[in-house]
Amino acid sequence: MKEPTSLLGIFDSGVGGFSVLQELRKVTDADIVYFGDCARAPYGNRGEAEIALFVSEILEQLQSQGVTHFVSACNSMSVNTTEKLLQESGIPKEQYIDMIDAVKLIPFEHNSHVLIVATHTTIASQVYQSILDEKGITASTHVPSSLAGEIETQDSGAIEISINESIDAAISVGATHILYGCTHYPLVDTYFKTAAEMKGWKGSFIDPSIYVAQLVSQWKLDGTRGLRIETSKETPLFTSYSTKVW
Ligand code: DGL
Repeated sequence: MKEPTSLLGIFDSGVGGFSVLQELRKVTDADIVYFGDCARAPYGNRGEAEIALFVSEILEQLQSQGVTHFVSACNSMSVNTTEKLLQESGIPKEQYIDMIDAVKLIPFEHNSHVLIVATHTTIASQVYQSILDEKGITASTHVPSSLAGEIETQDSGAIEISINESIDAAISVGATHILYGCTHYPLVDTYFKTAAEMKGWKGSFIDPSIYVAQLVSQWKLDGTRGLRIETSKETPLFTSYSTKVW
């Protein structure tokens, strides 16, 4: 059944959600509103309560624009969004998909050792470690503590250093896979791949966005591929993503 009056809202602390939007556009013609909270990015080193407050504000703002279906394209927000918060915002779980839903769907290879690379708040929540543990997959973690911020400000020297450290971490624990636990990271996938090649790490990268797209396609939302992109603060990087053809 198609839902003709639906509007999909996708949100992130900044530009990270564009890595999810890219996957979504492969599976849906839905009309979309994208919101990136660049004024307050990055979120990853903030406290749980503060992030939860930001999430409720963003949900309210999107609702006031007529958004009916929500995609939390931010792991740091996803791990701090409780069922209670959604209930208080009046959003049924069936109309909300987040990065945790996506990670649950990943068909990890048997015997793999996954390095979860994510922000401080995502790793501290232990959510992904528990999901992998339940699946019987060995997991290690690494927090490149400023990487999302470095991506937002396009500090390529710092990005390179952070990513080299992530690959070193993968080598030192013997990881077979790196799980992108922050939606900003697939945007600098080429840096990760270059560092991996230079350092001789032969593992592979997993981007959960593909599974977000799988879930969104099940909503079978109708639309005209409309797209409105909004931010709390224009930055050069945000502008360059928002003027791309999606
Ligand atoms: N892209 C977000 C995530 O997936 C947020 C990163 C940040 O703002 O620190 O965690």
